[in-house]
Amino acid sequence: MKIAVLKELADGETRVSASPETVKKFIALGASLAVEKGAGVSASVADKDYQEMGATIGTRQAVLKDADIVLAVQGPDPASLKGIKKGAWLVASLNPFGERKRVDAYAKLGIDALAMEFMPRITRAQSMDILSSQSNLSGYKSVILAANEYGRAFPMMMTAAGTVSAARCFVMGVGVAGLQAIATARRLGAQVSATDVRSATKEQIQSLGAKPIFVESVEGIEGEGSGGYATEMSEEYQKAQAELVSSHIAKQDIVITTALIPGRAAPRLISDAQIATMRTGSVIVDLAAEQGGNVEGAVAGKTVEKHGVKIVGAQNIPAMMAADSSALFSRNLYNFLSAYWDEEAKRPVLPDDDEVTIGIRLTKDGKVVNERLMG
Ligand code: NAI
Repeated sequence: MKIAVLKELADGETRVSASPETVKKFIALGASLAVEKGAGVSASVADKDYQEMGATIGTRQAVLKDADIVLAVQGPDPASLKGIKKGAWLVASLNPFGERKRVDAYAKLGIDALAMEFMPRITRAQSMDILSSQSNLSGYKSVILAANEYGRAFPMMMTAAGTVSAARCFVMGVGVAGLQAIATARRLGAQVSATDVRSATKEQIQSLGAKPIFVESVEGIEGEGSGGYATEMSEEYQKAQAELVSSHIAKQDIVITTALIPGRAAPRLISDAQIATMRTGSVIVDLAAEQGGNVEGAVAGKTVEKHGVKIVGAQNIPAMMAADSSALFSRNLYNFLSAYWDEEAKRPVLPDDDEVTIGIRLTKDGKVVNERLMG
């Protein structure tokens, strides 16, 4: 059973899909590990760190040869998988909606492509969830990025020369990233408020010492669809939310947006007209910029200025903290593969009728098999 760990080739990708710790654990399970030369360097892991745990280091071609399982952070260009054997598993974050053509190409290669971001949100899969582990770090970093762009301080400070007032920070979308953003902004001393469409988040916001800002006037709002994800809201709700946000946002210094709806473009939460009501020097960080943006005018990977407000368009924030994000990502992959380890087969085995298999398997036996990609 050979596991290959690829070096990431995508622009700006600094993470790696195995850590020395997970290499050691896979070897303890009976696997052999082959790591592409330099795969961990940008995540502060040297080749020798892997070697010390028992892995071999080689070229891409060498590590791919005879590999049963190939680990990566982002879905590799199918052309770079030349020599991969039929039936091998590709385990990575494959961006199945955004890179639909690649999925077809993986099918053509005859490999089983397993998209880790499609992991179902069930209790037993929590430790395998890359979206959670990476969002946690993104939520933290979004506040640090905002603090860096903000020309004022976050905490209230009383000095002999006068008082500096606390920044007001509004977090929109209180999932994993949003909760971490609230906690981080509170630690830095900001006055924090937050909103979401899922009413279950109200208590979570309060428990972190922040103020919930919720639409109360529209009947029957739950906002929670399957698996803990948000659903798209009614027009009536969206209108009420826009009004509420308009009055609140004008008084905010920092806004962090994190709202996502799986498989769809991110919901638009802040319009250009609303940005115009904010104080000059305010900062917005749009964590959904890559999925279309919660904020009008946000550009992924860029900081733009509109009406005197800086809008930071987040792009691959976990890559800014590659050592930590890689360690967590690697553990997610290990937790997944070890949970399905079959002692007799000496490799992981995915039952066809398992909820996790059905969720993450995109291709098998030359075909695209995932329901979310059909029709
Ligand atoms: P996400 O990244 O899909 O969305 C971020 C947040 O934006 C969510 O809270 C969502 O409700 C909110 N949102 C969507 N549309 C919005 C709108 N129009 N206005 C305001 N907010 C909007 O969600 P995330 O962070 O991945 O997690 C959502 C939930 O799933 C959490 O409760 C989390 O604890 C749970 N979860 C459970 C897992 C498991 O059990 N294995 C794994 C991961 C998350």
